[in-house]
Amino acid sequence: MNYQKAQFEAAFGFYEQLPSSSCPEIAFAGRSNVGKSSLLNKLFNRKSLARVSSMPGKTATINFYRVDDVRFVDLPGYGYAKVAKSEKKRWAELIDGYFDSDRELALVVQLLDIRHAPSADDQHMIQYMIEREIPFVLALTKADKLSKAQQQQRLEGFLQEIAYADQMTFLPVSSETGAGIDALKEVLEEVLATEPDGPDGEPDFTE
Ligand code: GTP
Ligand code: MG
Repeated sequence: MNYQKAQFEAAFGFYEQLPSSSCPEIAFAGRSNVGKSSLLNKLFNRKSLARVSSMPGKTATINFYRVDDVRFVDLPGYGYAKVAKSEKKRWAELIDGYFDSDRELALVVQLLDIRHAPSADDQHMIQYMIEREIPFVLALTKADKLSKAQQQQRLEGFLQEIAYADQMTFLPVSSETGAGIDALKEVLEEVLATEPDGPDGEPDFTE
């Protein structure tokens, strides 16, 4: 996949506007400010294709980016306390609407800040994907903020904090240093190689 060719495709503020998927999609989910847009920019090797901000709540729409025949989906972050109730509701509906619509979801990259235990919302999200049998990997962001030893400690922490974590794939990444980006790309290539739904397709990365 030639990430250099990444292009912005469209943004949607309301789930009713979402078109059905016409190609495999890789969605990036996680708390507000966890680093979704930064990780997309790092993958695409572009400084600011996806808008990044130190203010949580930067991405308030679902944004589609296209690389060849694959769609990368930047979801709005959840769990940001300081927005109006109506706005929170719109975001929740937008995210639910995305997962509820009939999508060709190849993989969800679920982001967790490597420094912190998963929030209740993170746990819900993980639970939701398991129940729906949505394939996902866990990208542990901002790894540059911890030493190697501390990263290892947190990895062990996640194994305790997340149910069935021993069956999940954890990828420490840093959009700052580029650490872990090649490993993430490898996972994406692997997932996409088994798409589109071959004879007995259905890759399951939760196992
Ligand atoms: P929303 O759009 O609000 O949901 O946030 P987001 O998840 O898209 O986060 P975004 O990429 O905008 O990054 C939030 C802040 O974290 C910015 O100040 C980034 O510079 C910073 N950040 C993101 N990734 C990393 C990382 O790997 N290392 C460090 N040190 N900072 C990071
Ligand atoms: Mg964002």
